[in-house]
Amino acid sequence: MKWNYNIIDNLDWGKNITRLEEKEKVANAIAAMVKNGECLGIGSGSTSYLALMKIAERVKKENLQIRAITTSLEITMACGRLEIPTAGLETGRPDWTFDGADEIDPNFSLIKGRGGAMFKEKLLINSSPKTFIIADRSKMVSRLGMNFPVPVEVFPQALSYVAHALKMELNPREIKLRMAEGKDGPLITENGNLVLDVWFDFIPNHAEKTIKHITGVIESGLFIGYNVEILNP
Ligand code: A5P
Repeated sequence: MKWNYNIIDNLDWGKNITRLEEKEKVANAIAAMVKNGECLGIGSGSTSYLALMKIAERVKKENLQIRAITTSLEITMACGRLEIPTAGLETGRPDWTFDGADEIDPNFSLIKGRGGAMFKEKLLINSSPKTFIIADRSKMVSRLGMNFPVPVEVFPQALSYVAHALKMELNPREIKLRMAEGKDGPLITENGNLVLDVWFDFIPNHAEKTIKHITGVIESGLFIGYNVEILNP
C-alpha cells in the first residue's frame, strides 16, 4: 500500500554537488556495467548517488531486475524513491560494489567517511567480491591526510578515552569532535555514535589497525591496502 503523502518522493541530494561533470562521467561508467539480476552494493556520498540515478535510468528503460545493499539512509531512501528494492547484508551479498572516496593515494589506499557512513561502507566493501571506487580527479593525492581528516566513529561513552588513546598512540596534529549541521551539538551517526575527525601530518601503514584496536572505536575511514579498482573520469 502507498502512503498518501510520501515524503521521500520529493527528496534529492539536497546540497550543491561539486565537480558535477566529472562525477557524472564515472556515474555513467558504473551504470553501464550493471547486468540484469545483479545485487549491487551501493556506497554513500554524492558520486554514489549520481551513479544510482544513472542506474535507475537504465533499470526503467531496459526493465532490469536488480537489488541494492546500501550503506546509508540517503541511498536507501533514494532507492525507495526510484523503486529499486533493497536487501540487507544479514542475508544478501553484493555481486559487486561501488563507492566514492575523499582521498586516494598512489597505492589506492583511501580516506572515506566525509558523510559519516564509513562503518557500513567498510563492512560492504569487505563483503563484496569486487569494489569500484568512483572519484573525481580532486580526490587523487600524493599522501593520505593532505586534504581530509581520518574520521573515527566512536561509541559515545568512550569519546574521551578514544581521543586520549589516539593522541598517545599516533600523535595526530588535531582531533576534533564532528559537529552536526541542522542540529545543535555533535553529529550522531546512523549507528548512534559520535565521530572524531583526526588530522595527521603523516599516516603510517599500521594506523588503520592501531585505531581499530582502541576500545570504543567502531571503525575508521582509513582503507589501507584494500583490493579496489579506481574509476576516474
Ligand atoms: C561517505 O561516508 C563517504 O565515504 C563518501 O563516499 C565520500 O565522502 C565521497 O563523497 P562524494 O562522492 O560526495 O565526494
